Amino acid sequence: MFEHIERVPGDAILGLIEAFKKDTNPQKVDLGVGVYRDAKGNTPVMRAVKEAEALLLKNETTKTYIGSHGDPGYGEVVLPMVLGEGSPVLEAGRASATQSPGGTGALRLAADFIAHHLPGKDIWVSDPTWPNHLGIFPAAGLTLHKYPYVDAENRLDFAGMLAALQEIPHGDVVLLHACCHNPTGFDLSREQWQQVLEVVRERGLLPLVDFAYQGFGEGLDEDAYGVRLLAEHLDEVIITSSCSKNFGIYCERTGCLIMVAKNAEQMGNVRSQVAIVARENYSNPPAHGGAIVSEILHSAELAAIWREELTEMRDRINTLRRDFVEALAPYGLDQKYACVAEQRGMFSYTGLQPEQVDRLRDEFGIYMVRSGRANVAGFSHDNLPYLAKAIAAVN
Ligand code: LMR
Repeated sequence: MFEHIERVPGDAILGLIEAFKKDTNPQKVDLGVGVYRDAKGNTPVMRAVKEAEALLLKNETTKTYIGSHGDPGYGEVVLPMVLGEGSPVLEAGRASATQSPGGTGALRLAADFIAHHLPGKDIWVSDPTWPNHLGIFPAAGLTLHKYPYVDAENRLDFAGMLAALQEIPHGDVVLLHACCHNPTGFDLSREQWQQVLEVVRERGLLPLVDFAYQGFGEGLDEDAYGVRLLAEHLDEVIITSSCSKNFGIYCERTGCLIMVAKNAEQMGNVRSQVAIVARENYSNPPAHGGAIVSEILHSAELAAIWREELTEMRDRINTLRRDFVEALAPYGLDQKYACVAEQRGMFSYTGLQPEQVDRLRDEFGIYMVRSGRANVAGFSHDNLPYLAKAIAAVN
């Protein structure tokens, strides 16, 4: 039965974890998968998370199912985190939260919902985008197209993006990255979001906003500018939110599908259908991550600790961006890589070519995605001189 099945290469991002582990180079540097790293290269459990877990352990009374939409307490805190305290969307009862196994789970729910309920609608993603987007939507049966996002000089190609959006057929779905664009790190300005809103409205497109890095760009509210703008000015928006990065609970698989509908009545209808999609995929989401987030955000004290820790992570990444460019100055490469200091979030599209990435891996034990995407959180003041020297060697 299985004779015809061919072996395929592993996932281009997750495969780097194993390859890095096996490398015996004592100076090796991991700039691969998008997880935060501290100055020692560790991905620590946040203090607010540890404290919330201690409370959960003490107070937990059951491990019964939590239902297809997940823990209502989780939805209650994620909605204002994403849409804003006092959001008119929330006040009008237009938004529904469904806890999901990570942001990826939310994307798959969205994909299945679209395939089921909006037949014939295609999805448009930025070129480049997170490689898993290219898998998730076709796996659900959707036809996927791309719109341009960066130009040949490795700069945001906003004119190209806008022109392409203007050509998308009425009613199709357009995937937008809320902030910290993965893989490029190029984000839209407020003015550019306004222009996207106009085109999306004119063309009657359905935005699907992937919001996996809230708090890693400029701040929790600042990063939500585009999401909130679209949700407040359009009848329908789909948002996939993740708590993996901003709470550092990657392995707890904690995400949320937020469906914004025209009114409370339609929201209720949509919500009932999303429960079916979740039930058919995995029935109920895992509970622990959502319980952590709920515990933290329902406590003013834990929420304050968490915000402080998140700010520290964001500031560290932004400092490293500037220091990376400075470390390249002695090699005359600071201008060439100046974009790294301007990009935001965990990733930088460095402009390094696949052959250069291969050389960095083989000759220096430096691991990043072959597209030239580097996880900036993997930089440290200890490894920057080594990184700069290696990049100079392959230039
Ligand atoms: C990444 O892009 O590195 C992260 O989103 C992790 C993943 O699942 O790919």
